[in-house]
Amino acid sequence: MAEPLLEVEDLTVSFRTDDGAVQAVRGVNLSVQAGEVLAVVGESGSGKSVTAMSLLQLLPPTAEITGRVSWQGEDLLSVPPERIREVRGGEIAMIFQDPLTALNPVYRVGDQIVEMVLAHEKVGRAEARKRAIEMLDLVGIPQPDRRVDQYTHEFSGGMRQRAMIAMALACDPKLIIADEPTTALDVTVQAQVLEVLADLAHRMGTAVVLITHDLGVVAGMADQVSVMYAGRIVESGSVDQVFDATGHPYTSGLLASLPRLDGDVDAPLLPIPGQPPSMLAPPPGCAFNPRCRWASEEAGCFTVLPPTAERSPGHRSACHRADELMAAGLLDRLAGAATADVGDRGAM
Ligand SMILES: Nc1ncnc2c1ncn2[C@@H]1O[C@H](COP(=O)(O)OP(=O)(O)O)[C@@H](O)[C@H]1O
Ligand SMILES: [Mg+2]
Repeated sequence: MAEPLLEVEDLTVSFRTDDGAVQAVRGVNLSVQAGEVLAVVGESGSGKSVTAMSLLQLLPPTAEITGRVSWQGEDLLSVPPERIREVRGGEIAMIFQDPLTALNPVYRVGDQIVEMVLAHEKVGRAEARKRAIEMLDLVGIPQPDRRVDQYTHEFSGGMRQRAMIAMALACDPKLIIADEPTTALDVTVQAQVLEVLADLAHRMGTAVVLITHDLGVVAGMADQVSVMYAGRIVESGSVDQVFDATGHPYTSGLLASLPRLDGDVDAPLLPIPGQPPSMLAPPPGCAFNPRCRWASEEAGCFTVLPPTAERSPGHRSACHRADELMAAGLLDRLAGAATADVGDRGAM
């Protein structure tokens, strides 16, 4: 396989707080190939945003970071701030959940795209404006030559998020990191905006890291999936591997909590019982053990950190009992394996 565009190795981030160290990210490995869409999925608090922000040195000074972030061979954790400013926007663009944090209400939307282009490319203002109109058109904003002169408050939520995508794509980045880009939008608009993003990324050959808490949006748009729990990647592989040959009880639980794809709209959605752990004192052994129906003493779930092992080529998971549970079909989506309460623990 070609050298990855972005490779994150053994990334850890902990925050100094008055209550102690918050271990937000605990040894994350990620790899993104050129032109590929990688989804990073996990419940709120699992460390997705902190991982994304550490890549571009966006964390506050209370963060202690170790590991390696290799961007086309360059270690982003140790490059000087000038270089990071060049990478940010020009080579790696970020799209956040709330477009209003990135779109300035006092400037016209088009001018913000123009400034973005001018900051990163040697073109004149007229050319940059032409580019802005093209980009607005490309992301499906109607009458882009008129919209280009409007302000953010004249845009609907979905249109703002499209404008963010236009701004992100305006400099032709190699990678877009989209952190829950559509969470604030209603479901139909979410699907439209993600479709625009995936379609453009594929057409322009841009890689995307799509961060989401919703495994449901992943199936239609990602190539690869990494599932994150309590600061670690617990499963990674292609969409087909993760959905159809699930290798971790947590992923299995996320799948069981999705609306059914097989048309049975009356089937109950089964949320994973319990809460993710506090990252001030995550449980020893497997961090998912308090919520896992299959956790057992004999397998070491309460005492030994599960190693990440390959289940098939390119498919990895970190669960002591993965091979056994997978062979018995107990992690299949419809088995609802992780949904029973932990009182049933171990019954196989
Ligand atoms: N600046 C910070 N100081 C202390 N703790 C933080 C800070 N930012 C995030 N955290 C903690 O790090 C953990 C991971 O957060 P985050 O990456 O935002 O989760 P996610 O994006 O997956 O919802 C959470 O426990 C969160 O409270
Ligand atoms: Mg987040």
